[in-house]
Amino acid sequence: MDDDLIVDDDIQRAESLPARTFTDESIAQRERETIFARQWLMLPERTTLERRDDARTLAEQVAARGARTPLSFLDRSLFLQRGWDDDALRLFPNACTHAWYPLVHGPSRGNAIACGQHGRKLDCAGRFLSQPGFKDLPDFPRACDHLRASRALEWRGFLFTSLDTPRVEHGEAFAEIDASLAKMPLEGLRLAPLDHEIRDVAGNWKQHAWNYMDSFHVTYIHRAPGGLADAIDMSSYRTELHRWSALQWAYARDARAGFNPDELPERFRDPAGRRVFALWWFVFPNLALNFYPWGLSVNLYLPVPGKPDTTRFCWFHRVRDAEKYARRDRDWLSAQVDAEDVDAMAQVQRGLRSGVTPRGRFAPEGERGPHWFHHLVSRELRALP
Ligand code: FES
Ligand SMILES: [Fe+2]
Repeated sequence: MDDDLIVDDDIQRAESLPARTFTDESIAQRERETIFARQWLMLPERTTLERRDDARTLAEQVAARGARTPLSFLDRSLFLQRGWDDDALRLFPNACTHAWYPLVHGPSRGNAIACGQHGRKLDCAGRFLSQPGFKDLPDFPRACDHLRASRALEWRGFLFTSLDTPRVEHGEAFAEIDASLAKMPLEGLRLAPLDHEIRDVAGNWKQHAWNYMDSFHVTYIHRAPGGLADAIDMSSYRTELHRWSALQWAYARDARAGFNPDELPERFRDPAGRRVFALWWFVFPNLALNFYPWGLSVNLYLPVPGKPDTTRFCWFHRVRDAEKYARRDRDWLSAQVDAEDVDAMAQVQRGLRSGVTPRGRFAPEGERGPHWFHHLVSRELRALP
């Protein structure tokens, strides 16, 4: 019955994932049990649609030993906890192992967590410590009395988790990205507040990831004059596909919108003197890390449980050059490209509702990125090794 989930690894023969994978809640559920359980997922800097009073990033909130903070992620109520005896970060379900009362109600710090309903105490590694009334119970505590931790870690000021056993180590998934950033000064980037940090937008999360991997649409949706297709030298556009990540990049038409060549590895240097406009990194399944000379723009495409046709679209900016950042809409077309993409996905969503949506074919050169993404989703959804 899964035959229609197969995407051929040969782009010449392949057809896209079927429309139902973009609309069915049963597929979304399966994605949560496979793709979103076993990949490294970035935790959003802020986790609710409302802006929080706490202006610190998530990483800053749990920087100190014993610090903890609650968060909602993929509709799950969780909390992040920094170790007390070790430096490890752990992500726990925000539910007491006794009778499921939430354990953490706001950012706090200490060597133990005390449950507000019947006084159970747990340590910062999630181990049961004590509880009144349980003195003479045999075989106590058992494994079920301790909290079950998911792994969490910090990468360049961002937090990641693998809710279940990860498919691959984080360092391996990020190896090519790290290599491309080896000469770029990225420490201490400032988080700049945006109006649209978190929005619910039309379209399944895969549509947005697919669109991100699609260079074919650039000359149409972001067309010249005045569009991205003008700002970059389209003839230099490259898509580099790795196992879990993919890089797209191009030279800028105007050298002022390009990287200083010393900030990038030698392989990006152009003998003709053109400068790289951006490094657009995609990390499977749902993260885009867009490196510009002004800093980093992050897109996170989060599925919304129960609403497969909606994506919680997170957008965060980290600034390293304030003067260039002030030019982001003029030289890098930041707001324009975002608006064009969000609108295009709303249009595709409308197309999906036509009721007649055959599986598509891929242009062998121009759609290597989309094919790579569909093929990977297909494999991971079917839990192939
Ligand atoms: S629910 Fe936490 S102690 Fe009972
Ligand atoms: Fe686009």
